[in-house]
Amino acid sequence: MNPPDQDLEFEKLLAFLKHARGFDFTAYKRATLQRRVQKRMALVGAPDYESYTAYLDVHPEEFQHLFNTILINVTAFFRDEEPWEFMRTDLIPKLLTMKGSDPVRVWVAGCASGEEAYTIAIVLAEVLGRDAFREQVKIYATDLDSEALTQSRQATYTRKDLEGIPAALVESYFTEVGERLEFDRELRRSVIFGRHDLIQDAPISRVDLLLCRNTLMYFNSDIQERILSRFHFALNEGGFLFLGKAETLLSHMSLFHPIDLKHRVFSKARASRLRDRSFFLNSPALETLTVSTNASSRLHEAVFEASTLAQIVVDIANRLTLANDRARALFGLSVADIGRPFQDLEISYRPVELRSSIDQALAQRRSITHKDIGLTPPGSEPIKIEVRVAPLFGELGDPVGTSISFEDVTTFSRLRDDLLNFNQELETAYEEVQSTNEELQTTNEELQSTVEELETTNEELQSTNEELETTNEELQSTNEELETINGELQRRTDELIQANFLLESILSSVPNGVVVVDPELVVLSWNIHAEDMWGLRSDEVVGMHLLNLDIGLPLDQLRAPIKACLADGTVRTVTLSATNRRGKPVSCEIHFSPLRGPSDARAGVMILMEATVTAPVAQP
Ligand SMILES: C[S@@+](CC[C@H](N)C(=O)[O-])C[C@H]1O[C@@H](n2cnc3c(N)ncnc32)[C@H](O)[C@@H]1O
Repeated sequence: MNPPDQDLEFEKLLAFLKHARGFDFTAYKRATLQRRVQKRMALVGAPDYESYTAYLDVHPEEFQHLFNTILINVTAFFRDEEPWEFMRTDLIPKLLTMKGSDPVRVWVAGCASGEEAYTIAIVLAEVLGRDAFREQVKIYATDLDSEALTQSRQATYTRKDLEGIPAALVESYFTEVGERLEFDRELRRSVIFGRHDLIQDAPISRVDLLLCRNTLMYFNSDIQERILSRFHFALNEGGFLFLGKAETLLSHMSLFHPIDLKHRVFSKARASRLRDRSFFLNSPALETLTVSTNASSRLHEAVFEASTLAQIVVDIANRLTLANDRARALFGLSVADIGRPFQDLEISYRPVELRSSIDQALAQRRSITHKDIGLTPPGSEPIKIEVRVAPLFGELGDPVGTSISFEDVTTFSRLRDDLLNFNQELETAYEEVQSTNEELQTTNEELQSTVEELETTNEELQSTNEELETTNEELQSTNEELETINGELQRRTDELIQANFLLESILSSVPNGVVVVDPELVVLSWNIHAEDMWGLRSDEVVGMHLLNLDIGLPLDQLRAPIKACLADGTVRTVTLSATNRRGKPVSCEIHFSPLRGPSDARAGVMILMEATVTAPVAQP
């Protein structure tokens, strides 16, 4: 159960749906409806109806998802099987005999994705033969759900969808189109699909057979009643109504009566039948009124006196003429009252107004009855009586008086009240059973739709899994390739380390300063003797521009020979005066040798420096 404010929010949501999209779900059973809406809410992460309404407002695409969820389209060919066998062997032959060669109009209301409409088409075509079917039959199949109708019109189904159809019928009524099977195109022309709202739209008329299965149960009982009276109007006299297995109609027996309750087949109650019934209910029960015509007869008097039925007679001059023992006891009359004007007696107006009834009975020459009149006889418990005022006529048919009898109907009345109560309880219990039954069926359909969704999700997951497995295998093979490449790389790295180590050793073993620069004059190598000569460590200079170093060598004079060496690839030598790291003047002989890259391009220049300390120039 929802808290009351949630119920209110839910009603607001329904009003919003009606206003925004014209879908009126207010007539649907709340429990089912709320479960379906909550399903969508969970999917979009809306915590309550209010936020879901807001979500719908900004995500219009959600409307369609919601409607698809509410309008449960669960259906199948030959759904529930058994009733269809009854249709084939019993009802349809009966209907066709009734119709002769006249057109046969069928309405499938709430047809979902079309399976039911094509099922009835197959059954009719089987009984009638294809040609007669084409000539005689029109099937109108309607639903509120436009997407379901589009599917219906396509008339193509998967093999799994056709599982409920006997193989021989699949063979004769479907043809393969790619991976799907299509319903016979010729017969398909007799099936017309259209959008129709059972709650709001006028019914299709002059229908001989109306199928509305597993749809009524979604609506509350008021709307079910309204739709059923439209169905009554829609059907021709003698037409049939075929419902789903949770739908029984026992409380609408005035409109339809069961042909086969087990299979939920009903026929339209004839209008005349309704009239007869109401006539029957309203007419007074037939009764023989025995009036003594010879008041003087002692025998008659004795019988009259001893009767257990209280009775009085009023003559034509409105005087009380007779009152038997029972009547006197009931109304406290005495022998002295005999002969008094009737209007002077209390009995003339209590417990019921009799004076006007006497006039009416005499004028209309028929009995007047007053039912269920309460009376408390002197010194007794209250009772219920039925008062009958019957005119009395003489031999020539002239009115001679009125007989008024008072029948004690207390027991009967009590029994009737008990019966009424019992009937009421029975009806309530029945309605509860019916509604529980419908609720169960709708829950069942919801479950079926969830199972279908899960099956689809499962299939998607399976295919994703297969894709993942393929990707995994590809990754494994890429991994193996990478491992091979990695091994190769490792081997090369080892070789490189060794080569570097060798190069370092060679450069260190050269007794001169060795510097290697790339074509941009960035220092690539700076051996230990260069460190010793110029006072800068290898890690301070590698990566620096040679000409930007701050050492005792006039570096700008190296630019030209390096460029020339790079340009023509020949060895050059220059001698420069410099100052070593100890501040001693040296003469530095510098050799420039080009380095070749893998494609014979100049990869840089190797600079070999040999410094000789020069004697300081003697001061004059
Ligand atoms: C569970 S399906 C029943 C399908 C089919 N009759 C059967 O028994 O297999 C219920 C169908 O009722 C339709 N429906 C719901 N509300 C409707 C309405 N107001 N008017 C017409 N169809 C409606 C739904 O769209 C859905 O296709």
